[in-house]
Amino acid sequence: MQRQNDRYLRALQCQPVDCTPIWMMRQAGRYLPEYRQLRTEAGDFMTMCKNPDLACEATLQPLRRFDLDAAIIFSDILTIPDAMGLGLYFEQGEGPKFKKPIKSLSDINQLSIPDPQTALAYVMDAIRLTRKELQGRVPLIGFAGSPWTLATYMIEGGSSKTFTKIKKMLYSEPSSLHLLLDKLAESVALYLNAQIEAGAQSIMIFDSWGGALSHRSYLEFSLQYMHKIVSLLKRGTRGQEYSKNYIPVTLFTKGGGLWLDNIIQTGCDAIGVDWTVDLSLLPKDKVAIQGNLDPTVLYGDRATIQHNTDLILKEFGPHNGHIFNLGHGINQDTPIESVEILVDTVHKLSKRDHNGES
Ligand code: CP3
Repeated sequence: MQRQNDRYLRALQCQPVDCTPIWMMRQAGRYLPEYRQLRTEAGDFMTMCKNPDLACEATLQPLRRFDLDAAIIFSDILTIPDAMGLGLYFEQGEGPKFKKPIKSLSDINQLSIPDPQTALAYVMDAIRLTRKELQGRVPLIGFAGSPWTLATYMIEGGSSKTFTKIKKMLYSEPSSLHLLLDKLAESVALYLNAQIEAGAQSIMIFDSWGGALSHRSYLEFSLQYMHKIVSLLKRGTRGQEYSKNYIPVTLFTKGGGLWLDNIIQTGCDAIGVDWTVDLSLLPKDKVAIQGNLDPTVLYGDRATIQHNTDLILKEFGPHNGHIFNLGHGINQDTPIESVEILVDTVHKLSKRDHNGES
């Protein structure tokens, strides 16, 4: 039986660890040749998400190659709008699209809140299967998109750089947008609680586009709804000691470095930070911090990767509560050897700052 590695869960609860845990956003994905092969065999990405065997296999692929400290269930944030009936599809090389984007208040009024046990049962099945396959080797992360980030895709009809449509609604019809965000917050909370029940051991909320908002709008249209979700999550009780049954929640707003104090006030257990943030300036031992290597450092040579990793570990210093990660998802043309170097460097160098268990 393999060793049970829980340093990721311990770090999330700001408990001592033997070395800094690491996982990578988008760790299962196209930079892995075995992922590309699996996707070719499956036909397309959503078929992989909806088939628990394939989703489980994709989740486990990066763990076979690298000494990562957590698995994240292979799925997508857009499963919720898909379950709401918007018709998600992916066009080769173009990212996500919706057949029926949200155009009006009447579209919003017609949206119903998906029952995660039926419309999203495939995600719960994938989580249960993956927990079984992992046998406790590393913890499994469940996730969802923030209401704001989901709404950007639902209103823009796909990816956007300018967010013109949703911002037009924000300034001209704010109550319609609030209605949508409220429905999404309720849907996400139900979905995440179902993931916890199915076996997710920590939860991460991706607010990939919160950074597109003004300070005021961020608080009103993004953070408020993540706060609501955090309050509705069935996390259990957190005490002074480490508890393996507690479900920590991480909030990640890309571009949210100026708002970290506000994010912490939601009562989340950890904040995800992108590479614009200096970790030495953040409060330690209160909430855990996840991040924050610029993913493009992985295009550099061994010495460059080691040097930049060392800088981040030094910036964080000898405290509890650091989960090493990239500042955003790994790029699809990242060399595999770079990931090996990164994982190895984080574990080796961070031993100097730790002498805890796990
Ligand atoms: O991290 C993991 O390994 C778990 C799986 C995961 C995926 N998407 C798989 C995926 C997670 C956690 C996500 C989250 C996600 N999805 C986010 C938030 C994180 C972020 O990157 O900001 C967002 C915004 C999405 C929406 C989405 N899904 C986009 C914009 C795209 C296309 C992007 C691209 O790089 O082409 C996807 C597709 C997607 N989701 C892929 C994967 C592996 C690529 C699909 C493929 O072509 O095989």
